[in-house]
Amino acid sequence: MKDIMTAPFMVEMIRTVTEMYRHGWDERNGGNVSLMLEEADVQEYLDVKNVIRTIPTGFKAQELSGKYFLVTGTGKYFKNVQYDAAKNLGIVRITEDGENADIMWGYSDGGQFTSEFPAHMMSHVARLKVDPENRVVMHCHPANLLAMTYVHDLDEKAFTRTLWQMCTECIVVFPDGVNVLPWMLCGTNEIGIATAEKMETARLVVWAQHGIYGAGKDLDETFGLIETAEKGAEIYMKIAHLPLVNTITDEQMHLLEGRFSVKAREGYLE
Ligand code: 13P
Ligand code: ZN
Repeated sequence: MKDIMTAPFMVEMIRTVTEMYRHGWDERNGGNVSLMLEEADVQEYLDVKNVIRTIPTGFKAQELSGKYFLVTGTGKYFKNVQYDAAKNLGIVRITEDGENADIMWGYSDGGQFTSEFPAHMMSHVARLKVDPENRVVMHCHPANLLAMTYVHDLDEKAFTRTLWQMCTECIVVFPDGVNVLPWMLCGTNEIGIATAEKMETARLVVWAQHGIYGAGKDLDETFGLIETAEKGAEIYMKIAHLPLVNTITDEQMHLLEGRFSVKAREGYLE
């Protein structure tokens, strides 16, 4: 067996959560990340016949049966992942019935996967239907996006258009826009179902007064998605209280669509 700490997925996960922490998106145990892996990815690094523990998930995700996920642990601090990955992360495999998670590696202090496991797994199912290459679901608490949900209309079109207007790159990076959920109780199947439904039409879902979810084909792409939306929100929070003199017009947005071969969400531009 190869040392799992040298696995590209492990190295990339540790770097990513460390960077998320450094960006201030993950105070204390705030945020969680799941990366989908195939058996072929993990079998060089762990014994796929050795299940450490099995934990019921409280929901059914048969579409993911047999899939492996590298997932942050509940209550675990992102800042500590780099020092003790085996305690703060785990690898789980969804059982055949889709109702349990076999722990294959990690959570070494007896811990378990994030309390937001329903939102993660249900979002994976939703995104895979739209994009078979999707591998990552990422949740965190970036300050400006969160702040924006206190002062901006939560209408998805209005929220998206404001972010697109805040920096030129926004429409290029997330032409599908940002969906928004009102405040809901976190860590529940209900918020999981609602998030997954929103994931069918956009790769970013804001949880009002809480944080954001992003999805993508790898950790870099998903990180970049949240990073760009958060930059847009940062600009908004810097200017929202000032008289607006200039903006990026819809006409200019159309020029960006052409230049970068992206298509803005239907009906979002004039
Ligand atoms: P976990 O520590 O269970 O991952 O929860 C953190 C969080 O951000 C809840 O939304
Ligand atoms: Zn959270």
